[in-house]
Amino acid sequence: GEPAVQLMPSAASATERAAALRAQIARHDRLYYELDAPEIPDAEYDRLFRELQALEAEHPALRTPDSPTQRVGGKPLPAFAPVRHVVPMLSIRTETDTESTGALSFDARVRRELKLDDTQPPVEYAAELKFDGLAINLRYEHGVLVLAATRGDGETGEDVTQNVRTIHEVPLTLVPQPPSHSPLQPPSLFDAPGVPEVLEVRGEVYMRRDRFDAFNLRADAAGEKTLVNPRNAAAGSIRQLDPAIAARRPLSFFAYGLGEVQGWNVPATHAGVLDALAAFGLPVCEHRAVCSGADALAAFHARIAEARPGLPFDIDGVVYKVNSLALQQKLGFVTREPRWAVAHKYPAQEALTTVQDIEVQVGRTGKLTPVARLAPVFVGGVTVTNATLHNESEIRRKDVHVGDTVVVRRAGDVIPEVVSVLSDRRPPHARAFSMPMNCPVCGSDVVREEGEIDHRCTGGLYCAAQRKQALLHFAGRRAMDVEGLGDKLVEQLVDGGLIRSLPDLYRLGVLKLAELDRMADKSAENLVAALEKSKTTTLGRFLFALGIRHVGEATAKDLARHLGSMDRIMDASEAELAQVPDVGPVVAASIHRFFAQPHNREVVEQLRACGIRWEEGEMQVASGPLVGKTVVLTGALPTLSRDEAKDLLEAAGAKVAGSVSKKTDFVVAGTDAGSKLIKAQELGITILDESGLLSLLGNRES
Ligand code: IVH
Repeated sequence: GEPAVQLMPSAASATERAAALRAQIARHDRLYYELDAPEIPDAEYDRLFRELQALEAEHPALRTPDSPTQRVGGKPLPAFAPVRHVVPMLSIRTETDTESTGALSFDARVRRELKLDDTQPPVEYAAELKFDGLAINLRYEHGVLVLAATRGDGETGEDVTQNVRTIHEVPLTLVPQPPSHSPLQPPSLFDAPGVPEVLEVRGEVYMRRDRFDAFNLRADAAGEKTLVNPRNAAAGSIRQLDPAIAARRPLSFFAYGLGEVQGWNVPATHAGVLDALAAFGLPVCEHRAVCSGADALAAFHARIAEARPGLPFDIDGVVYKVNSLALQQKLGFVTREPRWAVAHKYPAQEALTTVQDIEVQVGRTGKLTPVARLAPVFVGGVTVTNATLHNESEIRRKDVHVGDTVVVRRAGDVIPEVVSVLSDRRPPHARAFSMPMNCPVCGSDVVREEGEIDHRCTGGLYCAAQRKQALLHFAGRRAMDVEGLGDKLVEQLVDGGLIRSLPDLYRLGVLKLAELDRMADKSAENLVAALEKSKTTTLGRFLFALGIRHVGEATAKDLARHLGSMDRIMDASEAELAQVPDVGPVVAASIHRFFAQPHNREVVEQLRACGIRWEEGEMQVASGPLVGKTVVLTGALPTLSRDEAKDLLEAAGAKVAGSVSKKTDFVVAGTDAGSKLIKAQELGITILDESGLLSLLGNRES
């Protein structure tokens, strides 16, 4: 561990350390700004940077003019024409304190600079998001986009106009505004009415996460290079020398400030500026607020922290700005950073750790997933010890060895993943990984089918891992709904040899169950009762419970509704199956293959023999007030659980979908609704709350 007391370095060793830090920082600057290929997480870079700053504060003689602490970073690439910024593009001070203290200390500093005492009213701030992309200056002359430039070193950037023009969200011409009534600003004769002579707009080019994922999926399938993360994707795309490549990258833009302005009556506040930019047709993020004093800023920080996982793009914090432009001017700058703005970051979502082992997990469908066992590391607010490596080609692409130092990332509540390897830190004993030829659980052959990315165990229900997962799925709440059959019990039942196939579940007696560890007579009786109860079900639930590949809950219901009986489904040809709405060729083939296997038909027969039954109507024609409607649920509703709402909707004939599209008829939104709600608003889809839903269902008691 670290020594409890850090000795102050002597001047000689401080010189050496500072030189080493400068060299490291210069290398990482180049990797980050020029090659768009960072090797270390931002937090690690910040640590190096802060150490150098501290050393220089301790030994001012070490603060050379070429120290990275003295500039903003990033040289223009020689390939792009340099652009001199008339108004320098500033950096922004980062508040490293966590929680509410970031807002408090910023507010305290502003008040001190403005010489305000406690009796004076709170300062008004504009709060917005800190987008994680690339800063860009857009120059409009007489309403026409004439130049787009990167920040570069703040004084001189690069001309990336061609690439920025490919971003659909960046308007090529501004929307003219009705004349303002200011007598001080007579309209110029040479201007198009309602647009400034010169308007430089500053903002961030970024890539939405769904577009990033879709891009990588396609690139991977085509055997092309994938993008590392949305931020580098944005930066890398804008700095592509070939605009045709940039054009294929799905980028977005948000405006957050001004550069040079001529012939425009600039609004008095930052919030007013953003409103005006929006009126000119520039994209301005809707997540912003005017906050009075530090507490309101802290509340904004907390609110955005909640919304962050649901946002369709990455942010690394929020930004607070003094709202009044006059006060901004009064506050001015220190070196390259304005005194009137601060970035308040969220805890890092990336961290460094080492891979201690790579294990292989077997899922319900036999998919083998390599998982990295990590030295525990605190990232994004939790301690992470495992990270998915997805599949073998991901491991190859990232070149992960056991023993490597890696960057792990955790975003929202998704499974942590290994982002990249620090290859220069690879120890000599590091060990490469290869997929086992035999299933680590049952020893069956492992195959990777043509055109598939995943390796699979061929053991089927012979494989204990698949059997356990299959049982858990079968007993799940949306399937057969066997109450009380959880992880631990399934583990014991399979490992103890009590269950070899699904029908064995219904052959368990109270006596056999009570023999199991930790199983009291009462619990055994409860489980037997739950099993009995589960026998009365619906065809849709039963089909879903079988765990046929590609047959989710909605597909199972569609099959039940359109084909009406188990026998018809089992005997249907691929073509007949493909007649069912939303069943495509892949799903039809999968269902057909499943029932072509004699042992699967046998399982169905045995389960029926155990007494599982459902009402087998003729084609079950859906009825109810919402037949033909597609509904999406998002956020938490005040009284209904997600499942209850889903059941009510389906009972009324609606189809409940997972994502919002043009085909969505309604979105039912609760609290903390995230990107689905935003998408629905964008598409102009009707949005209901819980009481709206209930009255739609004809239940007017709510
Ligand atoms: S204002 C005078 N506002 O953060 C302040 N910057 O160091 C100039 N950034 O790379 C910046 N979101 O691109 C501002 N809402 C926001 C921002 C933002 C992201 C980036 C900016 C630059 C860095 C500032």
